[in-house]
Amino acid sequence: MNEAIALMKRHRSIRRYKSEAIPLEHVRLAVEAGQAASTSSAIQSYCVIHVTDGLKRKKLAELTGPQEQVRRAGAFFVVCGDTRRHRLLCAREGRAYEARMEAFLLAVIDATLFAQNMALALESQGYGVCYIGGLRSQLFEVERVLTPPEGVYPLFGMCAGVADESPMERPRLGAEAVLFENKYPDDESMLGMIEAYDERYARYIERREGAGRGWSGSMTKKFAEARRVDVGEYYRSKGADFS
Ligand SMILES: Cc1cc2nc3c(=O)[nH]c(=O)nc-3n(C[C@H](O)[C@H](O)[C@H](O)COP(=O)(O)O)c2cc1C
Repeated sequence: MNEAIALMKRHRSIRRYKSEAIPLEHVRLAVEAGQAASTSSAIQSYCVIHVTDGLKRKKLAELTGPQEQVRRAGAFFVVCGDTRRHRLLCAREGRAYEARMEAFLLAVIDATLFAQNMALALESQGYGVCYIGGLRSQLFEVERVLTPPEGVYPLFGMCAGVADESPMERPRLGAEAVLFENKYPDDESMLGMIEAYDERYARYIERREGAGRGWSGSMTKKFAEARRVDVGEYYRSKGADFS
């Protein structure tokens, strides 16, 4: 195993942080590493808002859960899909911005690749990180805190800082359940692989929390009902066209 892979495999989401801030040069280095990620046709449709205002952090901590880590981490970032630059360029040429669903998807994909490179760069500098999807729980309220312009889509947050905990590794599906040769496996094989994973996952939860629920149970609970139903409406209100 090489250094890069070892770093990736050491990853754990960190939710408790020491109060130390992250020096700006470390942030900048991580952002530049994020920017080095591949980007569809070099469109670079992402940006990151480093939230340094204490009041905004407090408000975002409430809106994301509440999640105390958003307030307490050494740094908090909001990763956004960013179609603003492209809109400005079209407008400067007197042309309408006609991009649709594909442009929204590109922005989400680009922003996510950027963010994961940035997260790895932070981890390589000794910090812990935790993504915050809770940012999408109350997007219309988050809008009031961040006031992004049209075409900028807040997607998720990222806490980063010096870890004050060392959590266990959260097991993943076996690679055979995600790596397929030439074609997707039949449902029965897939369910078999999930069953094997469920046992490992339940043991992990049992060690962590004292009671074991398998992965399947958590996923059914999560996906058998609609959640965050206003995200489409929110992104549409920011200029996204899903047609
Ligand atoms: C897009 C995204 C959003 C997430 N949102 C949250 C969140 O709001 N709060 C949280 O505590 N963890 C959040 N996580 C962390 C996941 O729960 C975590 O990555 C997953 O359980 C695997 O655990 P590990 O990262 O420790 O390996 C998020 C992760 C991702 C990728």
